[in-house]
Amino acid sequence: MKTIFRVQNLNVFYDDKHVLKDINMNFYKHHVTAFIGPSGCGKSTLLRCLNRMNELIPTCHQTGIIEYDGTSIWNMAATDLRTHVGMVFQTPNPFPMSIFDNIAYGPRAHGIKNKTQLLKIVVNSLKKAALYEEVQDRLNDNALSLSGGQQQRLCIARCIAMEPQVILMDEPTSALDPIATLKIEELIFNLKNDYTIIIVTHNMGQATRVSDETAFFLLGEVIEMNKTVELFKNPQHKKTEDYITGRFG
Ligand SMILES: Nc1ncnc2c1ncn2[C@@H]1O[C@H](COP(=O)(O)OP(=O)(O)O)[C@@H](O)[C@H]1O
Ligand SMILES: [Mg+2]
Repeated sequence: MKTIFRVQNLNVFYDDKHVLKDINMNFYKHHVTAFIGPSGCGKSTLLRCLNRMNELIPTCHQTGIIEYDGTSIWNMAATDLRTHVGMVFQTPNPFPMSIFDNIAYGPRAHGIKNKTQLLKIVVNSLKKAALYEEVQDRLNDNALSLSGGQQQRLCIARCIAMEPQVILMDEPTSALDPIATLKIEELIFNLKNDYTIIIVTHNMGQATRVSDETAFFLLGEVIEMNKTVELFKNPQHKKTEDYITGRFG
């Protein structure tokens, strides 16, 4: 197992509110790691630390170490880091433009102008996001004409077009119906052949279906992190057990 992210003694604050407390964890290449835990316990904050999105929040400050592939993320350009570490949000957020342009957006911003090359990137990204079959005849349609589930797969395709190593997903299915959710779960399962995925989910069934490792968060702390099968079968902490058996949260 090769470590892609190493987090050590990470503490995060919004003003003087301490929201992540001494976090130590590793993320492994080509694994899916799930974050579970009640609302407000810091899952999204940690996700945003990994691609330095939190620095866009003026009140947010942090101490500790985060290494991406052996390099401190503070020694990388934020834009480079975010090319390696893409993000998909809770509500699908396609740009109000064509399906093609949505996916070509990032590559174009990186200077790729050649039509044939862009088309190849668009097609490949759609295929990897399991959306190509459904949209191949309508690449020039507005992305907002797609269903919610299709829009979320488009956002995943847009992310893939940047050739990331890691995809961060913050409750990517919470706005979707059960069928669209299952499609995304199936996709996540297949994507880990090529990418490392870190996913926040409210749905414990989803964590067990898609992830290799699970971290349970409570009030800014990681109470327990283990192989998903182990964590759910044999939780080491009473608080984990209470949460996964639905006794609180
Ligand atoms: N931009 C922000 N400014 C101030 N406090 C915030 C901000 N974002 C999140 N918080 C607070 O930080 C804590 C952790 O939030 P978050 O990381 O969003 O938790 P989760 O994703 O587990 O629901 C919460 O108490 C939340 O209210
Ligand atoms: Mg959140």
